[in-house]
Amino acid sequence: MNTSGNSFLITGGATGIGMALAAELVRRGNDVLICGRRADRLAEAKQQIPELETVAADVSSPAARRELLELVRRRSPRVNVLVNNAGIQQLVDFTAGERDLTKADEEMAINLVAPIHLSALFIPYLAELPQAAIVNISSGLGFAPLAHMPVYCATKAALHSLTLSMRHQMRNTSIRVFEVIPPTVASELGASHRPAGVNAAAMPAETAATLIADALSRDDYEFALGEAANLVARREAMFPFMNRR
Ligand SMILES: NC(=O)c1ccc[n+]([C@@H]2O[C@H](COP(=O)([O-])OP(=O)(O)OC[C@H]3O[C@@H](n4cnc5c(N)ncnc54)[C@H](OP(=O)(O)O)[C@@H]3O)[C@@H](O)[C@H]2O)c1
Repeated sequence: MNTSGNSFLITGGATGIGMALAAELVRRGNDVLICGRRADRLAEAKQQIPELETVAADVSSPAARRELLELVRRRSPRVNVLVNNAGIQQLVDFTAGERDLTKADEEMAINLVAPIHLSALFIPYLAELPQAAIVNISSGLGFAPLAHMPVYCATKAALHSLTLSMRHQMRNTSIRVFEVIPPTVASELGASHRPAGVNAAAMPAETAATLIADALSRDDYEFALGEAANLVARREAMFPFMNRR
């Protein structure tokens, strides 16, 4: 896809990878709308990048998702790319039985249910446009799980699977479906449990954003960055044989 002249909606765009991607896309001549739950972080993002439009929205809320679509329908320029980036990461210990399931439910609602519902909600709208895209941000951990964050990794594996099917279903529409598979990137994700020093050794969010924008521009529909590429190698080779219809 051409990575200038589009209008992007990036969920969770006020921090981390989403914020860096928003900055990169603005630099490349795109209109960018971001959403997130915390108004203060959205205001900070707007202060750093005045071209951004921001809206407070919790993508795990069905009502908020519908309001996002209404906003997108009303505004000009029309959003033609949805980036499902919002995510959280939790520690879940199954040896403690049901203790952590509230955290796990929130994680599933944000990381998996929200992209499913938001995509389904946006697809009829996006399909009316001559060029449109959905970009799902999964994770290398969807391919090689870390056992202390089992539900996080499972949501990302599911997002990968979902993206394959969605891309196949959208093949005769104007909507291209991308998956971006990041490695460890410096951000606030899992801040409460990230070991000290991880962010210092991680890929900077700005580097990830440049690589992601480049991948979109060359229609690299399944793009694994940095060390995540090793985790993904040779997966899904059978997919075309299973989906001939
Ligand atoms: N950093 C990594 O190492 C890494 C690696 C692979 C994949 N990823 C993925 O990359 C994506 C971005 O993560 P990040 O690393 O940039 O972390 P981050 O800085 O914590 O960004 C996540 C963003 O999502 C927003 N968010 C969370 N729940 C939301 C909700 N219910 N509704 C709307 N926005 C919500 C957060 O803002 P609010 O809290 O204000 O809502 C935050 O701005 C995530 O999907 C993550 O799983 C990250």
